[in-house]
Amino acid sequence: MSVFFAPDRLETPEFLIRSYFPGDGARIAEAIRTSYDSLKEFVSWASPDYSNDSAEWTARRGRGMYLLNRDYPMGIFSPDGERFLGGTGYRLFGAPLEEYSVEISMWLRGSAAGKGLATRVLLALLDWGFSDAWPWAKIMWVCDVRNAASIRVAQKGGLTLEGTMRRHPLPGRPDMHQFAILRDEYHRHAP
Ligand SMILES: CC(C)(COP(=O)(O)OP(=O)(O)OC[C@H]1O[C@@H](n2cnc3c(N)ncnc32)[C@H](O)[C@@H]1OP(=O)(O)O)[C@@H](O)C(=O)NCCC(=O)NCCS
Repeated sequence: MSVFFAPDRLETPEFLIRSYFPGDGARIAEAIRTSYDSLKEFVSWASPDYSNDSAEWTARRGRGMYLLNRDYPMGIFSPDGERFLGGTGYRLFGAPLEEYSVEISMWLRGSAAGKGLATRVLLALLDWGFSDAWPWAKIMWVCDVRNAASIRVAQKGGLTLEGTMRRHPLPGRPDMHQFAILRDEYHRHAP
């Protein structure tokens, strides 16, 4: 592939998944602050005082990385784009695009969790990620071994547990399960 121009958004009847843009900060910060109780156990950066400016910086940085093909953080919104439901994306975490191997990250605002949304977002991202829109050969899901809900989402998404990384090197991550699915495997099993 000579030049890759990443698509910006995925629209479904239930949600919109898109790259962050300048101006998203206040909505993201509000979701983090009001969801602190449901995030604090497994999201190291969550804070009840998360500022609008911090979130605005994260949104702008995310947009920049997206355009440079260095990382693809995205927000989950209501279909009309008004309500911010959580964060996700195809994450490179420093790996080069040319490895075509990404991790899907995900967190939901507290009021959106517990209703199957994470599973539906994961399935949508697998479908999109293994379409011609993206070059991914492998999509991973990495979660704390104690995070039962996240493990269940990976299982419902049809990902295979590849192993457990002891003392994952990223800050705030202890032992982590790595689940993954390969492009050819996905298409072999697709209905
Ligand atoms: C993890 C998270 C994304 C899941 O979102 P969600 O929309 O609630 O997930 P779903 O409803 O699609 O599926 C959750 C599954 O876990 C199960 N579950 C939830 N809590 C559980 C627990 N404590 N023990 C066992 N299973 C649990 C649910 O019953 C459901 O499985 P089921 O459909 O078989 O009943 C959400 O809880 C979240 O944002 N948590 C905080 C951030 C986080 O941990 N992110 C993951 C980082 S990898």
